[in-house]
Amino acid sequence: MNLRPLGRSGLNVSPLCFGGNVFGWTVDEATSFRLLDAWVDAGFNFIDTADVYSRWAPGHSGGESETVIGKWLRHGGKRDRIVLATKVGMDMGDGQVGLRPAYIRQAVEASLRRLQTDRIDLYQSHKDDPEVPQADTLGTYADLIREGKVRAIGASNFSAPRLREALETSARLGLPRYESLQPLFNLYDRAVYEEALQPLCVEQEVGVINFYALAAGFLTGKYRTPADAAKSARGANTTAKYLNERGLRILAALDEVARRHAVTPGQVAIAWQMRQPGITAPIASATSLEQLQDLVKAAQLALDAPAMAALDAASAQQG
Ligand SMILES: NC(=O)c1ccc[n+]([C@@H]2O[C@H](COP(=O)([O-])OP(=O)(O)OC[C@H]3O[C@@H](n4cnc5c(N)ncnc54)[C@H](OP(=O)(O)O)[C@@H]3O)[C@@H](O)[C@H]2O)c1
Repeated sequence: MNLRPLGRSGLNVSPLCFGGNVFGWTVDEATSFRLLDAWVDAGFNFIDTADVYSRWAPGHSGGESETVIGKWLRHGGKRDRIVLATKVGMDMGDGQVGLRPAYIRQAVEASLRRLQTDRIDLYQSHKDDPEVPQADTLGTYADLIREGKVRAIGASNFSAPRLREALETSARLGLPRYESLQPLFNLYDRAVYEEALQPLCVEQEVGVINFYALAAGFLTGKYRTPADAAKSARGANTTAKYLNERGLRILAALDEVARRHAVTPGQVAIAWQMRQPGITAPIASATSLEQLQDLVKAAQLALDAPAMAALDAASAQQG
């Protein structure tokens, strides 16, 4: 596996990251362990989660994903073989939200406890918190890095001006900087990243680990009619957002490229992202070993220039 540097953090990560929101949500514990083992055994090392996963599911309170990963780490002894990323800042209920220093302190301890580890490799601000001066948040992260609880920090869902401001704050005050950005980006959702974040991240050498690499499953081609929503617990939301004229045009291009390369549409969708400027490692999840094999193969797929051009044309925003 050719590992890639994540920003200037000193961490080296596999070119794909396993998205952990499914653990304890759409994937039970035993299957989660099998998926995590298979991921590491295939040579990948990068795993992303968040404290809040999967609070949105009925009966869940957040922390379910970290808890599953923690049990896997305790049973499997693979801590040193992975780069473990988690996040803080989304609403966990009872006022537990945001990027205030005192709250980050509390949240990191809770994550470490659930993950059953003594360190988080990449600790990410899950979303911007305009109420808190960035210097305060970054100063707290500096303390956590000094204490060995965190190795590097990243941002997610930040706008370009706010990420730039954070990077300038770090440089001005001699604080650790966000070494990665986790934005929404895939063949369908291109604008947010491409307009302003991509040039900034390339210029500043911030690693990009984009989420929804498969558009929550849509880019695998599994949703082609409204009735296909029944294929997953996530199907209704996914078809509501993506099953439209532009989505179908993208699927047609994916189908055509997949046919020519004798691979699957999902593999093509990920391979396309891996060639975009600034991208270090797309984040995708899988709910079965078969789906995971698709991710493994995607990391090995090289698309030719005509394929890239066809996908670019089909996913252009106009029309
Ligand atoms: N920073 C943020 O705000 C943020 C937001 C969202 C996600 N994320 C991160 O990004 C990760 C990935 O997001 P995601 O899981 O929501 O979306 P995704 O990777 O775009 O979609 C993955 C889902 O598609 C389906 N799938 C995968 N491979 C397939 C295949 N070969 N054939 C058919 N279906 C397949 C599976 O769901 P089913 O089997 O249920 O269909 C799987 O869970 C998350 O785990 C999380 O780490 C971050």
